[in-house]
Amino acid sequence: SVLEMEVEQINKGNYEHYMQKEIHEQPESLTTTMRGRLLRGGSSKAKSVLLGGIKDHLKTIRRSRRIVFIGCGTSYNAALAARPILEELTGIPVTMEIASDLLDRQGPIYREDTTVFVSQSGETADTLQALEYALENGALCVGITNTVGSAIARNTHCGVHINAGCEIGVASTKAYTSQIVVMAMLALAIGSDTISSQARREAIIDGLFDLPSKVREVLKLDQELKDLANLLIAEQSLLVFGRGYNYATALEGALKVKEVSLMHSEGILAGEMKHGPLALVDETLPIVVVATRDACFSKQQSVIQQLHARKGRLIVMCTKGDAASVCVGGACRVIEVPRVEDCLQPVINIVPLQLLAYHLTVLRGYNVDQPRNLAKSVTTQ
Ligand code: G6P
Repeated sequence: SVLEMEVEQINKGNYEHYMQKEIHEQPESLTTTMRGRLLRGGSSKAKSVLLGGIKDHLKTIRRSRRIVFIGCGTSYNAALAARPILEELTGIPVTMEIASDLLDRQGPIYREDTTVFVSQSGETADTLQALEYALENGALCVGITNTVGSAIARNTHCGVHINAGCEIGVASTKAYTSQIVVMAMLALAIGSDTISSQARREAIIDGLFDLPSKVREVLKLDQELKDLANLLIAEQSLLVFGRGYNYATALEGALKVKEVSLMHSEGILAGEMKHGPLALVDETLPIVVVATRDACFSKQQSVIQQLHARKGRLIVMCTKGDAASVCVGGACRVIEVPRVEDCLQPVINIVPLQLLAYHLTVLRGYNVDQPRNLAKSVTTQ
C-alpha cells in the first residue's frame, strides 16, 4: 500500500535501499556493539573487556578442550574471520562447522567442547538444530545473535548479543562486522588471564576504540567502488583472493557479490591458488586480491606477481600508501584502505566489497534488498 511504502521510505532515511543504509551505518552499529563492554583502564588498571552474558562461564570456557564455531552463510564467515585471534589469545584449538554439514555428518561434539552458535536472526533452522544436537552431547553452548529473545538466544547456556540494530537487507552487512567485533572481544575475555599477551590485548582494545572512525574513512571510497562496479557491470565472474585474517574477507566478499548482484563470484584461499584456481587466470577474468599489511603480506605480494605473470586482471586491496609496493610487475587497479590492528582488518576490508556488491547490483538493475530466491531468515531445512 501507499502507507507501507511511505513508512519504508522513512525507515530508509536518506538512503535508497536498506543494504546501502546498513553499510553506511556501520560506524554507529559498531559503536553500539562495543558500548559498555570495553574498559579503558586507568593509571593502575589494565584495559579490559567485560561481556556480562558470559562472564560466569569464562572459567568453563578456558578449561574446554576445543572451541567449535557453528553457523551458516555470513555468520559462518564472521566466525572464520575471528578464528585466528581466538586461537592466538586462548591457545585453545578452534574448529569451524557449517551447521548443515555438522548435522549431515553427525560430527563428534563432546562435553569438553565449547560450541559457539553464530546467527544474526537467532532463528536459522540448521543452526538451531545443531544447537539441539550440541546440547544433547553435553557441550557448553554459547550464542552470538542480534535478536534478543530469538530461539538461539533462549536455548543456549549463555551468550553475547551483537546489538547491531535491526538488519533488513537480506544480504548481511552491519551484522557481519559486529559479529567479528563480538568474537574479537570474546577472544580478549577468554584470554584475559594470560599475562604474556597483555600488551597485544591492549593494542587490540585500542584498535577497537578506533574502528568506527576507520570504518567512516573507508566508507569514503563509495564513489571509487561505484566506478569500479561500472567497469565490472557486464562480467560473468569475479574471483576474490585472501588468506590469513582475510580468508574470510574473500569468502564474504564473494558471497555479497553473488547473492545480490547475481554475478558468479568465488572466494579463494590464496594458499590454494596453485591447486586449481590458477588455471582460470587470463587477461579477461577480474580478480580482487586482498593484500593489506599483516604477517602474510609478503606471501600475498608473491601471489600478485604470479597472477601478473599470467596476465591476470587485478584489483588489489592494500594498506594506504602501499599501492607502489603491491603493483610491481604489471598494471593493476588499487583499493587503498586504512590500516588497523591485524586481527581487526577484516572489519575494514569487507566494507569496499560490500559497496562494490551494492553498486554492481543497482547498476545491473537487480533487487538489492531482496535478491531472487533468497530469504533473510532460513527457518526451513
Ligand atoms: C540467510 C541470510 C544471510 C545469513 C544466513 C544465516 O542466508 O540471507 O544473510 O548470513 O541466512 O543467517 P543467520 O540469521 O543465522 O545469521
